[in-house]
Amino acid sequence: MKYILFLLIFTLVSIFFISCSRTSTESDTQTLAATEPKTELLNKEKAEISYELPPSARENPQEFQALAKSMLELPPSFLYLVDKNHALPEDFVPADIVNLNEYPAITTGREGMKLERRAAEALAEMSEAAERDGVKLVISSSYRSYNYQKALFQRYAEKDGEEAAARYSAKAGTSQHQLGTTVDFGPISDSFAESPAGIWMARNGRNYGWSLSYPAEYEDETGYKWESWHWRFIGTAAVKMQEDYFQGIQQRLLLYWNENASRIREALEKTSP
Ligand code: DAL
Ligand code: ZN
Repeated sequence: MKYILFLLIFTLVSIFFISCSRTSTESDTQTLAATEPKTELLNKEKAEISYELPPSARENPQEFQALAKSMLELPPSFLYLVDKNHALPEDFVPADIVNLNEYPAITTGREGMKLERRAAEALAEMSEAAERDGVKLVISSSYRSYNYQKALFQRYAEKDGEEAAARYSAKAGTSQHQLGTTVDFGPISDSFAESPAGIWMARNGRNYGWSLSYPAEYEDETGYKWESWHWRFIGTAAVKMQEDYFQGIQQRLLLYWNENASRIREALEKTSP
Protein backbone atom coordinates (compact mmCIF):
# COMPACT_ATOMS: atom_id res chain seq x y z
CA MET A 1 0.00 0.00 0.00
CA LYS A 2 2.88 2.30 0.99
CA TYR A 3 4.53 1.41 -2.30
CA ILE A 4 1.42 2.27 -4.30
CA LEU A 5 1.07 5.58 -2.44
CA PHE A 6 4.74 6.40 -3.19
CA LEU A 7 4.23 5.54 -6.86
CA LEU A 8 1.16 7.78 -7.04
CA ILE A 9 2.97 10.75 -5.44
CA PHE A 10 5.99 10.20 -7.71
CA THR A 11 3.74 10.13 -10.81
CA LEU A 12 1.89 13.31 -9.77
CA VAL A 13 5.15 15.18 -9.04
CA SER A 14 6.60 14.04 -12.39
CA ILE A 15 3.51 15.21 -14.29
CA PHE A 16 3.75 18.60 -12.54
CA PHE A 17 7.41 19.09 -13.52
CA ILE A 18 6.91 17.97 -17.12
CA SER A 19 4.00 20.37 -17.60
CA CYS A 20 6.05 23.26 -16.13
CA SER A 21 8.95 22.56 -18.42
CA ARG A 22 6.65 22.37 -21.53
CA THR A 23 5.14 25.76 -20.68
CA SER A 24 8.55 27.33 -20.45
CA THR A 25 9.66 25.81 -23.76
CA GLU A 26 6.50 27.05 -25.48
CA SER A 27 6.92 30.54 -24.07
CA ASP A 28 10.58 30.62 -25.21
CA THR A 29 9.50 29.76 -28.72
CA GLN A 30 6.94 32.58 -28.68
CA THR A 31 9.59 35.09 -27.59
CA LEU A 32 11.83 34.00 -30.42
CA ALA A 33 8.97 34.21 -32.88
CA ALA A 34 8.16 37.72 -31.68
CA THR A 35 11.72 38.99 -32.03
CA GLU A 36 12.43 37.29 -35.34
CA PRO A 37 10.63 39.76 -37.65
CA LYS A 38 12.17 42.68 -35.76
CA THR A 39 15.65 41.36 -36.41
CA GLU A 40 14.81 40.96 -40.08
CA LEU A 41 13.46 44.51 -40.26
CA LEU A 42 16.66 45.95 -38.81
CA ASN A 43 18.74 44.11 -41.38
CA LYS A 44 16.42 45.29 -44.14
CA GLU A 45 16.76 48.92 -43.07
CA LYS A 46 20.53 48.60 -43.12
CA ALA A 47 20.50 47.03 -46.56
CA GLU A 48 18.28 49.81 -47.91
CA ILE A 49 20.95 52.46 -47.35
CA SER A 50 22.73 51.24 -50.43
CA TYR A 51 24.08 54.70 -51.21
CA GLU A 52 26.67 56.85 -49.55
CA LEU A 53 25.27 59.14 -46.84
CA PRO A 54 27.03 62.46 -46.18
CA PRO A 55 28.86 62.04 -42.83
CA SER A 56 26.60 64.53 -41.03
CA ALA A 57 23.49 62.54 -42.08
CA ARG A 58 24.64 59.25 -40.55
CA GLU A 59 23.29 60.02 -37.07
CA ASN A 60 19.79 60.71 -38.36
CA PRO A 61 19.31 59.34 -41.89
CA GLN A 62 15.50 59.78 -41.68
CA GLU A 63 15.74 63.57 -41.84
CA PHE A 64 18.08 63.35 -44.81
CA GLN A 65 15.81 60.84 -46.54
CA ALA A 66 12.76 63.08 -46.11
CA LEU A 67 14.58 65.89 -47.92
CA ALA A 68 15.77 63.51 -50.63
CA LYS A 69 12.19 62.32 -51.13
CA SER A 70 10.99 65.89 -51.76
CA MET A 71 13.90 66.53 -54.10
CA LEU A 72 12.95 63.50 -56.18
CA GLU A 73 9.55 65.07 -56.82
CA LEU A 74 11.18 67.78 -58.96
CA PRO A 75 11.96 67.06 -62.63
CA PRO A 76 15.46 65.46 -62.52
CA SER A 77 17.02 68.21 -64.66
CA PHE A 78 16.36 70.71 -61.85
CA LEU A 79 19.16 68.99 -59.93
CA TYR A 80 21.50 68.09 -62.78
CA LEU A 81 25.14 68.80 -62.16
CA VAL A 82 26.18 71.19 -64.93
CA ASP A 83 29.72 72.47 -64.60
CA LYS A 84 33.06 72.49 -66.40
CA ASN A 85 33.19 68.69 -66.23
CA HIS A 86 29.52 67.87 -66.78
CA ALA A 87 27.91 69.16 -69.98
CA LEU A 88 24.35 69.12 -71.26
CA PRO A 89 23.76 67.72 -74.73
CA GLU A 90 23.62 70.29 -77.51
CA ASP A 91 19.93 69.52 -78.07
CA PHE A 92 18.91 69.79 -74.41
CA VAL A 93 15.96 72.17 -74.16
CA PRO A 94 13.88 72.59 -70.96
CA ALA A 95 10.76 70.41 -71.15
CA ASP A 96 8.17 72.95 -70.03
CA ILE A 97 9.38 76.41 -70.91
CA VAL A 98 7.33 79.59 -70.41
CA ASN A 99 7.68 83.25 -71.28
CA LEU A 100 8.32 85.42 -68.21
CA ASN A 101 6.11 88.16 -69.66
CA GLU A 102 3.16 85.92 -68.71
CA TYR A 103 3.90 86.67 -65.04
CA PRO A 104 2.97 90.22 -64.04
CA ALA A 105 4.95 89.91 -60.79
CA ILE A 106 8.22 89.31 -62.69
CA THR A 107 10.23 92.28 -64.00
CA THR A 108 12.60 91.54 -66.87
CA GLY A 109 15.24 93.69 -68.51
CA ARG A 110 13.84 92.89 -71.98
CA GLU A 111 10.97 91.06 -73.67
CA GLY A 112 10.84 87.34 -74.39
CA MET A 113 12.87 85.90 -71.52
CA LYS A 114 12.04 82.28 -70.66
CA LEU A 115 12.29 79.78 -67.82
CA GLU A 116 11.05 76.30 -66.89
CA ARG A 117 7.50 76.69 -65.63
CA ARG A 118 8.21 75.66 -62.01
CA ALA A 119 11.19 77.99 -61.80
CA ALA A 120 9.10 80.83 -63.28
CA GLU A 121 6.35 80.21 -60.72
CA ALA A 122 8.86 80.19 -57.86
CA LEU A 123 10.40 83.39 -59.25
CA ALA A 124 6.99 85.09 -59.45
CA GLU A 125 6.20 84.14 -55.85
CA MET A 126 9.59 85.41 -54.70
CA SER A 127 9.29 88.66 -56.70
CA GLU A 128 5.95 89.35 -55.02
CA ALA A 129 7.49 88.79 -51.59
CA ALA A 130 10.40 91.10 -52.42
CA GLU A 131 7.95 93.72 -53.68
CA ARG A 132 6.07 93.55 -50.37
CA ASP A 133 9.39 94.35 -48.68
CA GLY A 134 9.86 97.30 -51.04
CA VAL A 135 12.51 95.56 -53.17
CA LYS A 136 12.40 95.10 -56.95
CA LEU A 137 14.09 92.07 -58.44
CA VAL A 138 15.00 92.60 -62.10
CA ILE A 139 15.85 89.64 -64.31
CA SER A 140 18.73 90.38 -66.66
CA SER A 141 19.27 86.86 -68.03
CA SER A 142 17.35 83.58 -67.86
CA TYR A 143 17.17 80.55 -70.21
CA ARG A 144 19.94 80.47 -72.80
CA SER A 145 20.07 77.96 -75.64
CA TYR A 146 23.25 76.02 -76.41
CA ASN A 147 23.90 78.20 -79.46
CA TYR A 148 23.25 81.46 -77.62
CA GLN A 149 25.77 80.41 -74.92
CA LYS A 150 28.27 79.42 -77.62
CA ALA A 151 28.11 82.88 -79.20
CA LEU A 152 28.27 84.59 -75.78
CA PHE A 153 31.40 82.71 -74.73
CA GLN A 154 33.05 83.41 -78.08
CA ARG A 155 32.35 87.11 -77.67
CA TYR A 156 33.92 87.16 -74.17
CA ALA A 157 36.88 85.04 -75.32
CA GLU A 158 37.60 87.51 -78.14
CA LYS A 159 37.41 90.39 -75.68
CA ASP A 160 39.39 88.97 -72.70
CA GLY A 161 41.09 85.85 -74.05
CA GLU A 162 39.76 82.31 -73.56
CA GLU A 163 41.39 81.63 -70.19
CA ALA A 164 40.10 84.80 -68.55
CA ALA A 165 36.64 84.39 -70.11
CA ALA A 166 36.38 80.84 -68.78
CA ARG A 167 36.55 82.18 -65.21
CA TYR A 168 33.23 84.01 -65.61
CA SER A 169 31.48 82.53 -68.64
CA ALA A 170 30.57 78.93 -69.39
CA LYS A 171 31.36 77.21 -72.67
CA ALA A 172 28.36 75.95 -74.66
CA GLY A 173 26.71 72.97 -72.95
CA THR A 174 28.17 73.77 -69.55
CA SER A 175 26.00 76.72 -68.50
CA GLN A 176 23.28 76.30 -65.88
CA HIS A 177 21.31 78.83 -67.93
CA GLN A 178 20.64 76.11 -70.53
CA LEU A 179 18.57 74.27 -67.89
CA GLY A 180 15.99 77.06 -67.81
CA THR A 181 16.09 77.13 -64.01
CA THR A 182 18.74 79.83 -63.56
CA VAL A 183 18.62 83.61 -63.61
CA ASP A 184 20.94 86.58 -63.38
CA PHE A 185 19.51 89.49 -61.44
CA GLY A 186 20.49 92.97 -62.54
CA PRO A 187 22.82 94.68 -62.33
CA ILE A 188 25.20 91.90 -63.44
CA SER A 189 28.15 93.21 -61.46
CA ASP A 190 29.67 92.87 -58.00
CA SER A 191 27.63 95.91 -56.97
CA PHE A 192 24.54 93.64 -57.00
CA ALA A 193 25.66 92.13 -53.67
CA GLU A 194 25.38 95.51 -51.93
CA SER A 195 22.14 96.57 -53.66
CA PRO A 196 18.76 96.18 -51.90
CA ALA A 197 17.93 93.32 -54.30
CA GLY A 198 21.25 91.57 -53.60
CA ILE A 199 20.88 91.92 -49.85
CA TRP A 200 17.28 90.72 -50.05
CA MET A 201 18.25 87.67 -52.14
CA ALA A 202 21.11 86.72 -49.84
CA ARG A 203 18.69 86.78 -46.92
CA ASN A 204 15.51 85.38 -48.48
CA GLY A 205 16.32 83.48 -51.70
CA ARG A 206 16.61 80.19 -49.78
CA ASN A 207 12.99 80.41 -48.59
CA TYR A 208 11.81 80.23 -52.20
CA GLY A 209 14.18 77.44 -53.28
CA TRP A 210 16.89 79.59 -54.90
CA SER A 211 20.57 78.87 -54.42
CA LEU A 212 23.65 80.98 -55.17
CA SER A 213 25.73 78.91 -57.62
CA TYR A 214 29.10 80.68 -57.41
CA PRO A 215 29.83 81.99 -53.92
CA ALA A 216 32.89 84.10 -53.15
CA GLU A 217 36.17 82.22 -52.67
CA TYR A 218 35.00 78.88 -54.08
CA GLU A 219 36.38 79.23 -57.60
CA ASP A 220 38.57 76.15 -57.00
CA GLU A 221 35.45 74.07 -56.49
CA THR A 222 32.84 75.70 -58.72
CA GLY A 223 35.17 76.70 -61.56
CA TYR A 224 33.88 80.30 -61.56
CA LYS A 225 34.58 83.58 -59.84
CA TRP A 226 32.05 84.96 -57.38
CA GLU A 227 28.72 85.83 -59.06
CA SER A 228 26.38 87.38 -56.50
CA TRP A 229 23.70 87.79 -59.22
CA HIS A 230 23.56 84.20 -60.55
CA TRP A 231 20.92 82.11 -58.78
CA ARG A 232 19.59 78.65 -59.60
CA PHE A 233 16.20 77.28 -58.57
CA ILE A 234 16.65 73.88 -56.89
CA GLY A 235 13.61 73.86 -54.56
CA THR A 236 13.38 74.44 -50.83
CA ALA A 237 14.22 70.83 -49.87
CA ALA A 238 17.47 70.91 -51.87
CA VAL A 239 18.39 74.28 -50.37
CA LYS A 240 17.88 72.80 -46.91
CA MET A 241 19.97 69.76 -47.80
CA GLN A 242 22.67 72.08 -49.17
CA GLU A 243 22.72 74.04 -45.93
CA ASP A 244 22.42 71.14 -43.48
CA TYR A 245 24.73 68.59 -45.09
CA PHE A 246 26.92 70.36 -47.68
CA GLN A 247 28.16 73.47 -45.88
CA GLY A 248 25.81 75.65 -47.95
CA ILE A 249 27.75 74.94 -51.15
CA GLN A 250 25.54 74.08 -54.12
CA GLN A 251 28.42 72.48 -56.03
CA ARG A 252 28.99 69.96 -53.21
CA LEU A 253 25.30 69.10 -53.02
CA LEU A 254 25.03 68.57 -56.78
CA LEU A 255 28.21 66.50 -56.98
CA TYR A 256 26.75 64.24 -54.30
CA TRP A 257 23.32 64.15 -55.94
CA ASN A 258 24.81 63.34 -59.34
CA GLU A 259 26.55 60.30 -57.82
CA ASN A 260 23.76 59.05 -55.60
CA ALA A 261 20.31 60.19 -56.79
CA SER A 262 19.40 57.06 -58.75
CA ARG A 263 20.40 54.76 -55.89
CA ILE A 264 18.50 56.94 -53.40
CA ARG A 265 15.44 56.79 -55.67
CA GLU A 266 15.64 52.98 -55.86
CA ALA A 267 16.07 52.65 -52.10
CA LEU A 268 13.19 54.99 -51.30
CA GLU A 269 10.92 53.26 -53.82
CA LYS A 270 11.59 49.96 -52.05
CA THR A 271 10.61 51.37 -48.67
CA SER A 272 7.55 53.41 -49.70
CA PRO A 273 4.30 51.68 -48.73
N1 DAL B 1 28.34 83.03 -65.84
C1 DAL B 1 28.05 81.62 -65.74
C2 DAL B 1 29.23 80.84 -65.30
C3 DAL B 1 27.51 81.09 -67.04
O1 DAL B 1 27.98 81.55 -68.09
O2 DAL B 1 26.68 80.22 -67.02
ZN1 ZN C 1 24.27 83.62 -64.84
